[in-house]
Order: sequence, then structure tokens, then C-alpha cells
Amino acid sequence: MVNYIGTATPRVDGRAKVTGEAKYAGEFNISGLAYGSVIESTIPKGRIARIDTSEALRVEGVLDVLTHENRPRMAGADDAWKDDVAPEEGSPFRPLYDDKIRFSGQPIALVLAEEWEIARYAASLVRIECEKQPFVTDLYNQRDQAFVVKKPDKPRGNVKRAYAAADVRHEAEYFIPTENHNPMELFASTVTWDGGGKLTVYDKTQGVQNVQRYLCNVFKKKADDLRVISPFVGGAFGSGLRPQYQVVLAVLGALALKRSVRLVLTRQQMYGLGYRPATIERLALGAKADGTLDAITHEAIAVTSQFEDFSRNDTGWSALLYRSANANYLHRLARLDVPTSSDMRAPGAATGVYALESAMDELAVALNLDPVELRLRCYSDRDQNEDVPYTSKQLRECYRQGADAFGWDKRKPEPRSMRDGSELVGWGMATGVWEALQMPVAARIVLTANGHAEVSCAASDIGTGTYTIMAQVAADTLGLPLENITVKLGDSTLPQAPVEGGSWMAASASHAVATTAKEIRKELLALAKAMKNSPLAGAKLEDVVLADGKVVSKHDEGRAVSIADAMRHAAVDRIEKQKTNSFPDDASHARNTHSAVFVEVKVDEQLGVIRVTRVVSAIAAGRILNTQTAHSQVMGSVVGGIGMALHEETLYDHRFGRIMNANIAEYHVPVNADVQDIKVIFVDEPDEVINPLGIKGLGEIGIVGVAAAIANAVYHATGKRVRDLPITLDKLQR
Ligand code: MOS
Repeated sequence: MVNYIGTATPRVDGRAKVTGEAKYAGEFNISGLAYGSVIESTIPKGRIARIDTSEALRVEGVLDVLTHENRPRMAGADDAWKDDVAPEEGSPFRPLYDDKIRFSGQPIALVLAEEWEIARYAASLVRIECEKQPFVTDLYNQRDQAFVVKKPDKPRGNVKRAYAAADVRHEAEYFIPTENHNPMELFASTVTWDGGGKLTVYDKTQGVQNVQRYLCNVFKKKADDLRVISPFVGGAFGSGLRPQYQVVLAVLGALALKRSVRLVLTRQQMYGLGYRPATIERLALGAKADGTLDAITHEAIAVTSQFEDFSRNDTGWSALLYRSANANYLHRLARLDVPTSSDMRAPGAATGVYALESAMDELAVALNLDPVELRLRCYSDRDQNEDVPYTSKQLRECYRQGADAFGWDKRKPEPRSMRDGSELVGWGMATGVWEALQMPVAARIVLTANGHAEVSCAASDIGTGTYTIMAQVAADTLGLPLENITVKLGDSTLPQAPVEGGSWMAASASHAVATTAKEIRKELLALAKAMKNSPLAGAKLEDVVLADGKVVSKHDEGRAVSIADAMRHAAVDRIEKQKTNSFPDDASHARNTHSAVFVEVKVDEQLGVIRVTRVVSAIAAGRILNTQTAHSQVMGSVVGGIGMALHEETLYDHRFGRIMNANIAEYHVPVNADVQDIKVIFVDEPDEVINPLGIKGLGEIGIVGVAAAIANAVYHATGKRVRDLPITLDKLQR
């Protein structure tokens, strides 16, 4: 029985969020809290020579100033600092560990005081002397030193020969600057000193069990002595996948003071965490005169730190997506004196597919072909990398329905050929692609005789709607009304879940719930069958469903036992089950989501101001669990894409190795006035191979392709091709 899956179900946590009842990491009120304030390095590389805390310590209300010289003990081995999401290669950053300065904005001292204002004031009185060392923060200065990432790239054919023989060629370099996540919620941790060496840590994170294991390793704590809780997350966009330094400092503070501690980073300090790495992308496409691709080369050089090698699949998308006998791709990293780069909003794809889809647009121009038509001529029903079919791929429908809804057939191909009064009008499009991953997740269900079920799991809801979709799946698989389901998430003591990322949580958590619900059904059927003259006598598990509060025969609705009756007869007042999902682990199919994005921009010819007036995003992502939250999620991703195309850029002053716009006044993100008409279409994509419910996940597909579609629309409007993001008005005047 399906009453909720696939419907527009409002968020079950909506009320808690708008009333402020939903608590975030920095909002848990604990008596006797002390407050921390971080002091960061102002140089990007060097050594701390001397720290004088005497004046700060004289301020009334200051409790301690922690530095690498006096902090409590932390683990020495790299392995202890490797969280679930840490890059394989390298040595993770350790705050207040030693005298080395590795990047500007590195935490080098923590002031602890009775009040936050006191801590912050006292921080200004700490005197720190540093020895500077030569540094580099400019990717373009290091590109020649970039090294190839160890990845099993699978080049095919002979690209060099095919490219030389191509009828039409396009080659260009594209650039994506460093971008910072800037979630609304600041990074914060509240650590409660529970006594007896036990700690409870309220943390802003996308993975409570990841943080729990990490802190236990770093502080050599027993698993039972440290609990991490994070019921709500005020946005993260990937910045909360790895444990961030404030949680280590907050625990250090609590251990030093033997007291509860709260630490909230400032917006500026958050620019010392991870970021989307600046990336130089080189594309070379060779096509036959008929518009079919024959040679694809995609090379990228991305930023990482001096101490860890962070990389994501950036160039592989180009070899996967389109039919081409010859393809070659390569990812390189350049080391800079900055923090380690990190996952941000479709990491790798948002950048790599931006470059690919910009280059495809340029190739379409060179071929004198409609951009949609070019993509259809290169369409592939098989993963071109692995040469396997997709579990499902309705990208063709995305092109068709997206183009229809947009009115693409009215497009005049010539640049600068469409106008609206004083404004130039441009129409552009791009393809999006992301992975449909699924991970092991366990769910516990406790069903009580009053027909209420509590579903619990350590997963986070990072604002994407996990509480709601888990409640929907539980309601349908347990045959109960949605109001009777309570979902508990974000507590490390709950059943196992990985970090919430990679768009894998919807499919994974849904199947954990469905798998556990099946165990409940099994038990209820046994209880129902044990009743005297049971109407379900002889029924097998696969013959019955749970619906309307009853165990019901699929074949005869009249044969049913209410859940309450079955439990009462057996004198059982609760049934508790916990199971882990499982997915067929085979490489026989590719698992991906796809999109087609159509964009209209209007450009003021005199001023160069670009407005994104219309976006149509047609998405193929399997079965949509909740059309309302899914719609919001894709809309949000499109806004992220507008930011990437037109606004977002972390600016360094390379003379000082420091970020110049570490605030949200000067780091621009789209605001209401920048967001106009966004239409989201979910293309029907039945998928019986990927998993039993046919779910793929939506977190990231919505941003992929958006920046390219906007850049392509700007070219169509103005005849000007800007290949370095963001497309600001000055670049249109170059
Ligand atoms: Mo996402 S960038 O995997 O949180």
C-alpha cells in the first residue's frame, strides 16, 4: 500500500524548524558552560616562535588560554586523525598540535572564559610572534608542479590520432575559482562534561558516528564514553562531512577545564575550513562533420593542501557521458599553502561537467548545430567508461520535456539575435550527471500496541528532508498513518549510518526502513497466525501487507487482523527490530542520475548586468520519494548553480596568502533578487534494477550543469565567451 511515497508530503520537522524548537549544535543549553574563542594565524606558512598569554589571563572571567604548548594530550599517529571522509593520502590537520603554521586562518590558540564576549576580548590580548616562511597560494603559479592523482583512469582508443583527424575541433581552458560553502549555521560544538570521563558532544556535522569515532581516536576515549548528537543541521553543502577543528578544540577545552564548553566559529573563521578547490580544466573535443564525437580529452588541475591529497572524480564524467570511440582524461593536484580542499555541492561534477558542457556548447557553435541536437547525436545508452548499461537513464526525456517546457524551439541560434527592450536575451542549455550511490544503513523500528512506531538511525538530516522521507517509507511499509511515525536521527548511539553525503542517504535510509519493516511484518504475521481461527492461517509473508493498521492478505482484503489485536492476543506491547539494508553489489550496471538544464538570461548591454530570468531543470532520478521536498531541493541546487556561475569566488591576496573576502558581504551568493523563475520537472524514470523501491537520490544532481547552461546563455546573449567563473560584469567588458 502506497499512501505517502511519491506524494508531496510537507516536512515532518517543519514546525520544529519554524518555531525554533529544533536545536542546533550551538543552541543546547547546559548549565555552567564556558565559552571559547579561537585565535587564527595571520600568515600562511611558518612557525609560532612565542605566545604570550599573560595579559589575556589577567582579564576577569578568563579561565585558560590553550596553545600547542599547554593543551591536553591528543593522539600522535596520522591514523587516529583519519575520519571516514579523509583523503587516503596525507596527514590530516591537527589543531593546536605543534608550532607549525600551514595556512592563514589556522587556529593557533583557544581562549576559554565565563562569557563569549570575554573570551573574544581576551583573544585580542594574546601576543603571538611567528617566523614567516615562503609560501604559495596561487594555483597558476603551481600548475607546472601538479602531480597526477592515483586513480584507475580508463582511457580508450587513440585520442591523439582521432583528434588530429577530426573534421571539427574545439579546445579551451576553463576555470572555477575556490568557493566556500557558507551554510547559514555557523560551525559550532557544545561539549558537556558529564563526569567520570564521559562527554556528550553536540556538533554541527553531516555524520555523528564519523565524529564520534574520530574524537575517540584523537582523545583515546572508549566508545561508550563519548556520544555525538546532531539532530538538525543548518546547511552544510559538504562542509560537515569531515569533523571540523572546532569540535576538537571544544573537547580540548572541556578536558582542560573539566567543564562544559561551547565553541562557535565566526563566519570569517569558517573560511579556514575546507572549500571547493579552484580548478583549471582543459577540454579538447574532436567531432565528425555529422556532429558525432570522436575524441574527448579532459584534464584538470585542482588545489589541495601541502599535507593531504583531496580529489574527486572531475574529468571522468567526460569519458562516461557521450558516445565517443576515443577518450582520455587525467586529474592532477597542485599543492598550495592553504587548508585541504573538500567536498562541496556535487564535488568534481559541478566543476568538471561545467567545463565539459561549456566545451560542448562551443563545439555545437563550431558545428553550426543546435546544442540539444549535438547531445542527442552523441547520446549513449551505455556507460562509455565501463561499457555497461544503466539501471535506468531517461536523459533523452529530460532533453525533450525540458526543451518543451522552456520553449527551446523558438530559439534563434545567432548570438545577440534575441532582445527584450534594452536587454540582450540569451538561451543556453547543458546536461547534468551524478552518481546514484547506496550505502549500508541500519534502522531500528519500535512498534507499540497503540499503533505508533519509532524509527531510529544515526543518519543526519542536513536539511534535505531525511526525517520526512523516512517517515513516509515507514508509514507505507508499516501500514500506519504518517502522524503515528516518529523518526529519531543524528545520535551516535543509534543504529549505524555513514555520513550524509554523495546523495546516497535517501535510497540507503529508505531501504533500511523497508528492510526492518519487513521483519516487523514477519513478526506480526506470526502473532496473527497464532490467534484462534486466524483469518490469516496459512498465509505466507509475501502474501500479506501491512495497511490501515492491519495485517492484510494481498489476495483477499477481507482476510485481515489488526495490528493491535495481534499484539494484544500475544500479550506483546512492543515489537523491536533492527536490520541493515543490502544492495546487490555488482558492476553489471551503471547507476547515475541525469538532468537537462535550460536557462534564459537577460543582459543589460550598457552595464553588463546579468539576470537569470528563467531556469527549467528536468531531472531523471528514479522514483521521487517526496515531490515537495524534492522540488525544493532541486530549486536550492539551481540557486547554488546561479551562485557558481555569477557570484561565488573566494579571493586571495597572494602577496599575503590570505583571503580578502572572508565574509558574506563580499563573498557574493545569490539573494532573492537574483532568483526568478525556476521550474523543476521530474521525468518518470522507473528503475527495477537499482533497488526494490527504485530510488536514486537527489542531493547533488540539481546543481550539475547549471553553471554551464548559464555561461552558454550568456554567450548566446552577448557573443562573448567567458571561460573563468564567476561571470562578472567586468569580464563581459574585457
Ligand atoms: Mo555532499 S558535497 O556529499 O555533502
